[in-house]
Amino acid sequence: MAEIGKDISKAKILLEQGELVAIPTETVYGLAGNALNVSAIAKIFEAKNRPHFDPLIVHVPDFNSVNSFASEIPEKAKKLAQEFWPGPLTLLLKRKEIIPDLVTSGLGTVGIRCPNHKLTLNLLKELTFPLAAPSANPFGYISPTKASHVNDQLSDKVKYVLDGGDCEVGIESTIVGFDGGQTIIYRLGGLSVEKIEAVIGKVEIQLNSSSNPKAPGQLKSHYAPTKNLLVGNLDLLVKAHHGKKIGILSFQKIIPDFPITNQKQLSPTGDLLMAAQNLFAYLRILDQLDIEFIIAEEVPNVGLGRAINDRLQRASVRIE
Ligand code: TXA
Ligand code: MG
Repeated sequence: MAEIGKDISKAKILLEQGELVAIPTETVYGLAGNALNVSAIAKIFEAKNRPHFDPLIVHVPDFNSVNSFASEIPEKAKKLAQEFWPGPLTLLLKRKEIIPDLVTSGLGTVGIRCPNHKLTLNLLKELTFPLAAPSANPFGYISPTKASHVNDQLSDKVKYVLDGGDCEVGIESTIVGFDGGQTIIYRLGGLSVEKIEAVIGKVEIQLNSSSNPKAPGQLKSHYAPTKNLLVGNLDLLVKAHHGKKIGILSFQKIIPDFPITNQKQLSPTGDLLMAAQNLFAYLRILDQLDIEFIIAEEVPNVGLGRAINDRLQRASVRIE
């Protein structure tokens, strides 16, 4: 077990020594290392068993720091950062040489984000380097939204877990890039498309996956539990699999005549913010039950609902 605590000085010393520390953010917990130290970055890839073609997001304490790592900041990127940082928004910007190739997987851009979590912001302010941090889960598995989730899976790979409580947003950051005059969303996330468009106007959304995706968050099978996940109409699915041991993830409702211990409601009141907060933790709980597979339904496809449905779809592709 890695040590869990709230000691920023301890986290700082370990990071300065090139070690890995799990950090809380408003989206999910990150597995952090010094973004300018190649051996720390190599440890991150190794700990997560992450392919080297999948670049890391660099976390900074404020917008001013971006100048040190990005060579160009489009006007729309500035506007978005002013409006939504600290917050669940990652900007893909032309990188400066100081960012190691390993961080960006050799790409010409670097993903930068200022996370909205007090402990981590204080830590970032005390450090003289930014933190590269992917979600603190083994590659392809569900992202952690509690300190204990990190310890469940990466306890021997990380020296210290900085405990910032439950993640308030619960779903990863929205990734936005700039191509010529065009703004493109590459990953739906904790900042809704509607909020982004309210500030900079219409954006393009490119979530298509391929074997060599631009952002592996675009990989189809991702964010997945170990049990198979079927997404569809719950009543029909329950009927079709009558008599089997299954777990149910619904948006609001309880399925009658079915063991309540095997059911989770993302938000009984129909609140998408709450649904996003609960999504990954509930998938983990269901994944650990003595069941054959999990069935789930989509949530309304607006606001954060789009990101929730995206994660459900990506977690479910192994089912025919
Ligand atoms: O909310 C978040 O973004 C969390 C917290 C810890 O900040 N981090 C996170 O990191 O979700 P990760 O590594 O699990 O997902 C980052 C995604 C990956 O799919 C990666 O491919 C993409 O960001 N990415 C990073 N840098 C990129 C770049 N330069 N170009 C394209 N995609 C990039
Ligand atoms: Mg991830």
